[in-house]
Amino acid sequence: MGIGSRCTAPSKPVTIAERLCSAAAAAGAQAEQALSGAVFEGFANVWTPLMAARRLGSRPVRVELAGEAVVLFRGRDGSPSALIDRCPHRGAALSLGRIDAEGRIECPYHGWRFDGSGTNCLTPLNPEARRERLGATPLPVQQVGDLLWVYTAPGVKAPRDPVASEGLTDPDLTRVYLERHWACHWTRAMENMLDSPHLPFVHRRTIGRPLRRIMRPQSSMQVSWEETDWGGRARASIDGGDNRATLEFHRPNMMALTIPIPGRRLQIHALVIPVDAAGTRLIVAGSRDFLRLRLLNPLFSWINGRIADEDKPVVESTRPSEIPQPDEEHSLGSDQATLQFRRYYYRSLRPFAAAPPGEPA
Ligand code: FES
Ligand SMILES: [Fe+2]
Repeated sequence: MGIGSRCTAPSKPVTIAERLCSAAAAAGAQAEQALSGAVFEGFANVWTPLMAARRLGSRPVRVELAGEAVVLFRGRDGSPSALIDRCPHRGAALSLGRIDAEGRIECPYHGWRFDGSGTNCLTPLNPEARRERLGATPLPVQQVGDLLWVYTAPGVKAPRDPVASEGLTDPDLTRVYLERHWACHWTRAMENMLDSPHLPFVHRRTIGRPLRRIMRPQSSMQVSWEETDWGGRARASIDGGDNRATLEFHRPNMMALTIPIPGRRLQIHALVIPVDAAGTRLIVAGSRDFLRLRLLNPLFSWINGRIADEDKPVVESTRPSEIPQPDEEHSLGSDQATLQFRRYYYRSLRPFAAAPPGEPA
């Protein structure tokens, strides 16, 4: 059963190797169809933040996610839905269609209509069609804090809820968001967010300036890593000095940096969203409990944007595009946090894809 068919059975995670083997064993065209149906390769069965909820109004929005196009829209009650952005009839992008008065999305090509669960509600000019077999492909979606999150497996009930770090949901914090597009594989961007030793070099004029002041030619950076239920926490210090800044990795694609300011809360989150093999969308969220005047929001956004823009050309220049295995390239003691991410990626994400709806894993 292909990706456009209505889901009747939950899909299970499958390794890409398993899919290749089963495809080789099965007969010709059928096997080819099964292989090409795998989705979200290397980023399957995880919750990811996708976009600011306020961006989703009365029109459908298309978002590229890990090699798949997803369309988000709001139903009549305002609740968000997500479908693979491909009509099961002739493959047109549903996102080019409109939302009807019932909150269903109408395909722009021949007018088939789907509700938020992907159920086909109308096949114009073909009233006798068995619509129960002609559904679109839904993805679990939830709003957490200011963001819409999607679960990267089609046609399943997500086995757990998304978990956002407190800085993204605490109502006592003011948050600003900005977006950037980097021309790189998402894993290079993600590990850059967990990388402390680049600060005095890439950010020599901004956040790395204080480190440059204390660095000496023989200085050494110590990076500690503490494993947690949701990922891990890194701390970096130079020559054993005090550094209370913490850098958290929240699986699969979020970094939270807490900057220690006495009596204040200041956090920066980086949400690293895979677009395709050569593209990453970055949402940077700044949270604070001081200087909360809205007029100051553009200033905080500008600072976060400037820091991200310092990283961009360097990260985009890295080769190979996707991070290598932990034992490849040359790593040193200060690469502890990025190596942890590499281990996680190659153990838990890279080998897997999501099966298309209804297909046995
Ligand atoms: S392609 Fe969508 S209705 Fe024909
Ligand atoms: Fe950086």
